[in-house]
Amino acid sequence: MSALDMYDIIDKKKNRGTLSAEEIRYFINGVTDSTIPDYQTAALLMAIVLNGMDDEETSVLTEAMMTSGDVLDLSSLPGIKADKHSTGGVGDKTSLVLEPILAACGLTISKMSGRGLGHTGGTVDKLESIPGMKMEYSPEEFLAIAAESGIIIASQSADIAPADKKLYALRDVTATVDSIPLIASSIMSKKLACGADVIVLDVKTGSGAFMDTYEGAKTLAEKMVSIGKRAGRKVSAVITDMDQPLGRAVGNALEVKEAIETLKGIGPSDLEELCIGLGSEELLISGKTVSRKDAEAMIREAITSGKAAAKLAAMVSAQGGNADVIENTDILPKASFEKRIFADRDGYIARLECKEVGMASLLTGAGRKQKDDIIDPAAGLVLNKKVGDKVDKGDLLATLYSSSADLLDPAAERLLEAYRISDKKPSERKLIYEVIK
Ligand code: URA
Repeated sequence: MSALDMYDIIDKKKNRGTLSAEEIRYFINGVTDSTIPDYQTAALLMAIVLNGMDDEETSVLTEAMMTSGDVLDLSSLPGIKADKHSTGGVGDKTSLVLEPILAACGLTISKMSGRGLGHTGGTVDKLESIPGMKMEYSPEEFLAIAAESGIIIASQSADIAPADKKLYALRDVTATVDSIPLIASSIMSKKLACGADVIVLDVKTGSGAFMDTYEGAKTLAEKMVSIGKRAGRKVSAVITDMDQPLGRAVGNALEVKEAIETLKGIGPSDLEELCIGLGSEELLISGKTVSRKDAEAMIREAITSGKAAAKLAAMVSAQGGNADVIENTDILPKASFEKRIFADRDGYIARLECKEVGMASLLTGAGRKQKDDIIDPAAGLVLNKKVGDKVDKGDLLATLYSSSADLLDPAAERLLEAYRISDKKPSERKLIYEVIK
């Protein structure tokens, strides 16, 4: 019989104690097999939010959550297995561009991704807007596709880090999400369980980011890199800007179209710059190149030669989708209705509030408010003007799309609120701030 008791563990953390590995494992095992009641789990989570966890506790917590379910063994796959993770933001379709680029540069990509609540679906929902695309696979099928095409992006299986799933659901309703050790262990338990050797983390900062302050983003990045290294993986984090949406498209099929354009070298410059920045970090830490300059050249060649776009086509085809989409994005779902919004004065776009753009996108039907909501794959918006652009009164700011006409007016109103036009040109923000090794 175990001498451990949840009451004592909660009391210890409440009094700022350091939990032992045994206590943390007891907690996570109890969460996984539902022998610890939610009220005790929630009490411990709150004590962690208030009193924190040191690096050792956070690493043990991550490992316990990682081993609460399946841990993928990618050793049968050839080459270096690479993964990336973004803490998320509006218009973030980076995985759709970056993963095919890395596959074209010789890394093996076996990525599990999420759907999620919010302004658009997650990577899985975006890819599902491609006709025929299948996203759910058994571990055997997942490995077989990765081996054959060198790249797969699939829906994260329920058996990956089930303890995190239970904890996150509870954190979400008990105001215990905002804790660096809890966020870092939650993200890294899933990433580590997916088995990659090399992981680049895109940690966003700015008004549209999960961590809105720079210091918060940096602390989270450092914590996640430290957890990854302790687990024996090669991990870097790149702190990047999310103060306005990334690229121009926000919405599922709309983002797939923009990702394809970017893979062909005709996408928005911020998205291309971000993919080159994150991709070169990935090539560097994986040992594919020794200088950032070479890494960038390799990525540019993958784009201009068409190899990166061909990798996306191979992935789409291997996952049952219609790979003609790469040459003809018109086969993506199209909205029946659209509405345009215009500048009401001359000036410069001084702000483009991410959260408002996200809300506008959600109102078009592109996202989910509740987890069972059905996404409209064709819905969303395309920004014609972004921060720093000069506008004259009457210029087109953006176009909104939806399959339901009555959703467009409230969405357009919300999008207009996201724009602030002023006389003065705003100072330019950097897109990539810092790499945490
Ligand atoms: N994303 C996660 O996966 N977990 C968190 O705790 C926060 C963001």
